[in-house]
Amino acid sequence: MGWTDRQQRMLGAMGLRLWAPAPAAEPAGAPSAEAVLADVVHVSPVVAPALAPAPAAPHRSAARPTAPVGAAQAVAAALPQRPNAPEGEREAAIAAMDWPALREAVAACQACALCQGRTQTVFGVGHIQAHWMIVGEAPGENEDLQGEPFVGAAGQLLDAMLRALKLSRLEGSSAAQVYIANTLKCRPPRNRNPQPDELAQCEPYLKRQIALVQPKVILAMGKFAIQQLLGTDEAVGRLRGRVHQYQGVPVVVTYHPAYLLRQLSEKAKAWDDLKLAQRVYEKAIS
Ligand code: URA
Repeated sequence: MGWTDRQQRMLGAMGLRLWAPAPAAEPAGAPSAEAVLADVVHVSPVVAPALAPAPAAPHRSAARPTAPVGAAQAVAAALPQRPNAPEGEREAAIAAMDWPALREAVAACQACALCQGRTQTVFGVGHIQAHWMIVGEAPGENEDLQGEPFVGAAGQLLDAMLRALKLSRLEGSSAAQVYIANTLKCRPPRNRNPQPDELAQCEPYLKRQIALVQPKVILAMGKFAIQQLLGTDEAVGRLRGRVHQYQGVPVVVTYHPAYLLRQLSEKAKAWDDLKLAQRVYEKAIS
C-alpha cells in the first residue's frame, strides 16, 4: 500500500521508519522529520531560568486573555476552596466562570494538598477557541517551573505529533492552533500518579476549560486523561480505535507521549489514533 506525501510526513514526524518510498525532502534548511524525532528522543531536560511564574508570551495571548484582574480575583477569592464545601457549590461556581476568572481560580486553588508543593499552577496553553483540544495528565518538573503544559521531552514529542497534523500550540487560527490542558493543574510530588481526590478536585477546572473552548475533537493522552474524561479505568489499548464522547464532544484516546518515548514500537498505534482523530475532525467540520 502506498502512503500519500502527507501521511509519509506524519509518519516521519512520529519517528516511524518508512518501508515505502522515502518522504519528500524537506525544504532546504528545515530539519527533517526524523531529525525532529531524534532531538525528541535525546532531549536534555529543559532548564527554566527562574522559579517565578512565566510571563505571558505574546503568541499565547489567546490563552492568556487580558483579565479584568480585580473582578477575576474577587471571583477566585469567593470560590469555596475547601474540599468539604457544600456539595456542588464549588463546581457550580467554576462552571459559571469566564477565562480570566477561571485562570485566577486555578492560580489561587488550595482544594487539595498539591498546592503545598507547587511552584505555580499550570493552567493551559493555546487558542481559546481551538478546534483541537489535547488533554494530558499532570505537570512535571519543567511544567511546574515554567507554568506551561508539556514543555519537557514528552512535550517535544507532542509538538512533533501536532506538527505532523499541521497543528501547533503556538500560533494560527482556531483550526490550526490547539489548546492543551492537563487533568491536574499542579505537579504531583516526584511525578507520582495523580490520586483520586486530586483528580476529583481538579475536574471542574478541566470541564470548564472544555466548555469554554468548545473543541470539535479532543485527544485524550494517557490513562488519567482518559479516566477523567470518560470515567473509566479501562486500559488505553482497549479504548483506542473508536470514538468516545465527553459532553457531546468526540474524544479519541491515545497513548501518553511519555509512554511513547519509552515504547517506541507503540508509535504506529499512536499514528493510527491521530489519523482517526483527523477523520473525526474532518467529519465535524464538513
Ligand atoms: N505530561 C503531561 O501529561 N502533562 C504535562 O504537562 C507534562 C507531561
